[in-house]
Amino acid sequence: MDPEVVQIIDQRVLPHQLAVVDLRSHHDAVMAIKEMWVRGAPLIGATAAFGCYLGALEAPEKGLHHHMQTVYSDLHKTRPTAVNLSWALDRVRKAVADLQTKSDLIKMTMAVAQDIVEEDVKICRDIGLHGLSLIETMHHSNERSPVQILTHCNAGRMATIEWGTATSPIYHAHERGIPLHIWVDETRPRNQGARITAWELGERGIPHTVIADNTGGLLMRQGKVDLCLVGTDRTASNGDVANKIGTYLKALAAHHNNVPFYVALPSSSIDWNASSGDDIPIEERDPEEITHISGFDGEVIRRVQLTPGESAALNLGFDITPAEFVTALITERGICPASEQGIRSLFPEGNYCPT
Ligand code: MRU
Repeated sequence: MDPEVVQIIDQRVLPHQLAVVDLRSHHDAVMAIKEMWVRGAPLIGATAAFGCYLGALEAPEKGLHHHMQTVYSDLHKTRPTAVNLSWALDRVRKAVADLQTKSDLIKMTMAVAQDIVEEDVKICRDIGLHGLSLIETMHHSNERSPVQILTHCNAGRMATIEWGTATSPIYHAHERGIPLHIWVDETRPRNQGARITAWELGERGIPHTVIADNTGGLLMRQGKVDLCLVGTDRTASNGDVANKIGTYLKALAAHHNNVPFYVALPSSSIDWNASSGDDIPIEERDPEEITHISGFDGEVIRRVQLTPGESAALNLGFDITPAEFVTALITERGICPASEQGIRSLFPEGNYCPT
């Protein structure tokens, strides 16, 4: 293994190809995050930390910190909504602040990136164990079997290092033999649900059905959803949640139909400086993600035009679900109300950044 290369899975071609790509510079890491070769809030953070490591390898012997400022800034500009990005960059920045030599900088950036990766595995596992209790309760009180869960986008292992956030309780429940069925929102425009969540669930043999994004409301009305379980890219300190566009509509439908709506998150997705969802920047992406669509024709992945050439398209990547529509937050430290008091009850120290 080349120690100057960081390898990622290129998620753009999943599930049709499993392509491993070498990142050789911090510019490669910038490209990988910006163009969504990697995506999902925790994985964006981990990739950014490894981007700092690649940046450290490029550093001149003199002017280390000046060089690293450029690296942080290039990485920071890639995607605005997932707060894990700035969380990871801040963590690297603090860890290297007093270092004087390039070799120490390289060692430290690698150590921080590896710590983030190792912690993420444990954190996501613990989110799953806490969320499991909800599914177990649902299972015991459910006359009907299986427990039916609706999820949006991909908050699975491809969005993290392992386990996923929203999928972790699902994996734990499946391992314990609780019968499950997952409704997977396709999640236009990039179809992370149809492509990635469905693939991940299929890998583990977890029964699931992909649905068009607009189907969930009817399924809830028909009593076919026991709970909704989604991830988040940034949670404001009052419990408002930013997640993939369309999450808000699911939360509204869930509220109207008395379906519990849970959000699973690592504490690195909490933005202590955002007092409400209004403070969260919403990413606007290339309209071509709406006007064009890619799919596998049996031989190659093709991209085709979907809309009339002259039609404008607006591509907002995330929406805000107000805390009042979130039944509870599932974190690595337990389950809490989606409120400032609730979050503080689990994280009294605020910004959680183990070193
Ligand atoms: O634009 P994406 O694919 O990075 O958006 C991802 C999501 O919205 C996920 O739900 C979120 O990052 C939680 S990941 C555990």
